[in-house]
Amino acid sequence: MMIKDMRNNRIPSESSVQQRSDFSTKIHGSILWKYEEEPGRIHSLYELAKARMWNARSDVPWQDSNHNHPFPTLDEGEPMHGFSAYDALAESDRCRISWWRHALEISEILHGEQGALLVSSQLVSCMPTVEAKLFASSQVFDEARHVEFFSRYLHEIVGEIHPPSNELRRLIQTMVDDPRWDMKFIACQILIESLAMAKFQEIRQYTRVPVLAFAIDYIAADEARHVKFGVEFLKEHLRELSSVELAERSDFVLDNVLRLANSLNVYTRIAEKYGWDVAALRHHLRQYRIRHPEINRNRFRQLFINMKAVGLLTERTHARMMSMEVFR
Ligand SMILES: [Fe+2]
Ligand SMILES: [Fe+2]
Repeated sequence: MMIKDMRNNRIPSESSVQQRSDFSTKIHGSILWKYEEEPGRIHSLYELAKARMWNARSDVPWQDSNHNHPFPTLDEGEPMHGFSAYDALAESDRCRISWWRHALEISEILHGEQGALLVSSQLVSCMPTVEAKLFASSQVFDEARHVEFFSRYLHEIVGEIHPPSNELRRLIQTMVDDPRWDMKFIACQILIESLAMAKFQEIRQYTRVPVLAFAIDYIAADEARHVKFGVEFLKEHLRELSSVELAERSDFVLDNVLRLANSLNVYTRIAEKYGWDVAALRHHLRQYRIRHPEINRNRFRQLFINMKAVGLLTERTHARMMSMEVFR
């Protein structure tokens, strides 16, 4: 069963759907007349990217996209289990909720992938070495395949694409508009990619849809390479910045993580749709998170590791993080 079968009674999305956002920006780029004589670490990542190219049309088993179970995710991946109003719903309603949440989350990933596509294409111009430009060009094509996969998946399997959250829309706009390559780089390779990696692990763990599980393995391997590129390149660069510049960059990451953490507002929207007590559902979810501390830990672990590796996790930033409920 697909969500396509349930379109007549879907949970309402945002009422007005903006079809596009335009931007006009100046980026500081460079044309380099000096080429590296010896291949460095970034070059080996570029070689890996060429060797690991895959085709989102012919390498993905689209013909196996039908699956027997009505729900897209395993029961363990549904935190509303145990909430009495949710448990009292008919299976068809719980199934509809599950597909709707899935559609919303995968749509957000799709828009994030497009953001990465646009930013990585700008990075080809901005990056300060030739081998970094070459790697960025391989990333452009990786992100293109990710956009291709997720948009086809949403169209063919799920049946609908939701607009991005306001927070993600704002972040992508900021990334493409900021003329500084390192801000684009931090936003894309550290913030978005780290959160995406965690999300992919979660999807891989709970999905019941074979074609999604299959493609996520390819996509996650690409993203791991992008993160490695980000970390390798940034750690040298950030060492040269002043503490004020560093603080600006750390704050940028933290502020945006907080904004993105609950940007989809999934559960409030479900509670409102079914007339449930929003505070009671929030309480249930908080208890669920307390019983499963690994969920938030897994969600942010990769981000912590990458921030630390590049030097963005200063004492001040760490203290700021520990004061925030979402990171504890
Ligand atoms: Fe991607
Ligand atoms: Fe990526």
